Amino acid sequence: MQTVLIFHNLLRWAVLLFGLLTFFRAISGVISKRTFTGGDSSSNFWFMLSCDIQLLLGLILYFNGQWFERLKNFHETMKNTDYRFFSFEHGVMMIIAWILVHVGRVSVKKASTASSKHKRALLFFGLAIILILASIPWPFRDTVMRPWYRWFN
Ligand code: HEM
Repeated sequence: MQTVLIFHNLLRWAVLLFGLLTFFRAISGVISKRTFTGGDSSSNFWFMLSCDIQLLLGLILYFNGQWFERLKNFHETMKNTDYRFFSFEHGVMMIIAWILVHVGRVSVKKASTASSKHKRALLFFGLAIILILASIPWPFRDTVMRPWYRWFN
């Protein structure tokens, strides 16, 4: 499980990189009214792919560790900030973000004009990246802090 945790920790940086790239490309697309390019499409593809792998690793951690088990003591778990975060909040928020990324990609593909593609990208990927940023257990968070990175010893 330590290996999965290391990958889950490090892959967060790829998710953030592609997520922010996609988000800023959408902003620039809306403002400059430029065409929707292959670069826009591939940046949101890599954002989606990194989220898919991150979801898979997260589910492995969730069901193989203490977090899913803790739901059996639901009331006790909800009273403890750390337990509640990893047994409930983190996974739920990240799954909502993952759905937004997938729905967003389909919606952007279906839009007929460049302007509506950029607007939809901004809406869906923008909301997703905000949720992701807010739900990461950053080292500066009070009780749920986790390290910036992990490596193999
Ligand atoms: C874009 C999606 C996600 C990102 C960016 C993300 C990011 C992170 C980060 C940075 C950590 C701290 C890792 C460490 O301790 O070094 C973490 C922990 C964890 N994540 Fe995620 N995560 C995502 C999705 C998910 C999902 C969908 C689940 C499953 C429901 C999940 C389950 C967990 C669990 C159980 C831990 C705690 C592992 C432990 O300390 O025992 N994650 N996540």
